[in-house]
Amino acid sequence: MEISGLGALVSGGASGLGAATARQLADAGARVTIADLDETGGSALAARIGGLFVRTDVTKPAEVAEALDRSGAFSGTQRILVNCAGIAPPAKAVGRDGNALALSAFARVIEVNLLGTFNFLSQFAARLQAAEALGDEERGVIVNTASVAAFDGQIGQPAYSASKAGVVGMTLPLAREFAKSGIRVMAIAPGLFLTPMLESLPEDTQTSLGQQVPFPNRLGRPEEFSALVEAIIRNSMLNGEVIRLDGAIRMAPR
Ligand SMILES: NC(=O)c1ccc[n+]([C@@H]2O[C@H](COP(=O)([O-])OP(=O)(O)OC[C@H]3O[C@@H](n4cnc5c(N)ncnc54)[C@H](O)[C@@H]3O)[C@@H](O)[C@H]2O)c1
Repeated sequence: MEISGLGALVSGGASGLGAATARQLADAGARVTIADLDETGGSALAARIGGLFVRTDVTKPAEVAEALDRSGAFSGTQRILVNCAGIAPPAKAVGRDGNALALSAFARVIEVNLLGTFNFLSQFAARLQAAEALGDEERGVIVNTASVAAFDGQIGQPAYSASKAGVVGMTLPLAREFAKSGIRVMAIAPGLFLTPMLESLPEDTQTSLGQQVPFPNRLGRPEEFSALVEAIIRNSMLNGEVIRLDGAIRMAPR
């Protein structure tokens, strides 16, 4: 699908992988809306790329509906949705104190990463199904962000891994469901990328994490993630699949 001139929404677009994606899509000529909780980072980036920022909590159906309304008013039919909003608080099932993890803490990660992704994509697809098709009967593309933790989650990641495995699991049934409307659904499972999520770790921890990546022997750059998003959008045969983007890393237990 040609990107130039299309409306694109990026959830979690104020920071990290989402911010790189918002920049890349704007450079490719899309009119980008950033939907994020972070007003300061989100509005600053939107201003830089000639886009729109809408403060949105992806877990709230009414806020997502408003983001879709406002992005539609800003740039017409939204054809591209990239879901990057996510949280990754580490927590073992049984803590050091011997207590079981509060169910509410587990549920919160599922709520943001899995339900938030579904909330956005289902409302996006409902609107897009009613829009005109482009060439080749294609209407649009949804790219969700999973994680290698969906496959090789570490100790302390039961909730995060479950949330990302959910994102992986819904990829094919959604691609099958939306096929009749010409809407593709893909997921990217990143390995270790240098974003604020990892920048908060001490520098020697960052280096040691990077050294675990077989090749290239370093942390991924957000622009390497956004380059894959762009390639997925452009290549209409990519559908219903999860692509690991990880330099061949397989995460160790801890
Ligand atoms: N950085 C990595 O190494 C890595 C690896 C695998 C997967 N991921 C996934 O990639 C995605 C982006 O991660 P990142 O590293 O860029 O993190 P980040 O923390 O830099 O960005 C995440 C963004 O999501 C936003 N967000 C969080 N909760 C939200 C909510 N309820 N509603 C709206 N926005 C919300 C935050 O405000 C932030 O701007 C996440 O889903 C993460 O799980 C990251």
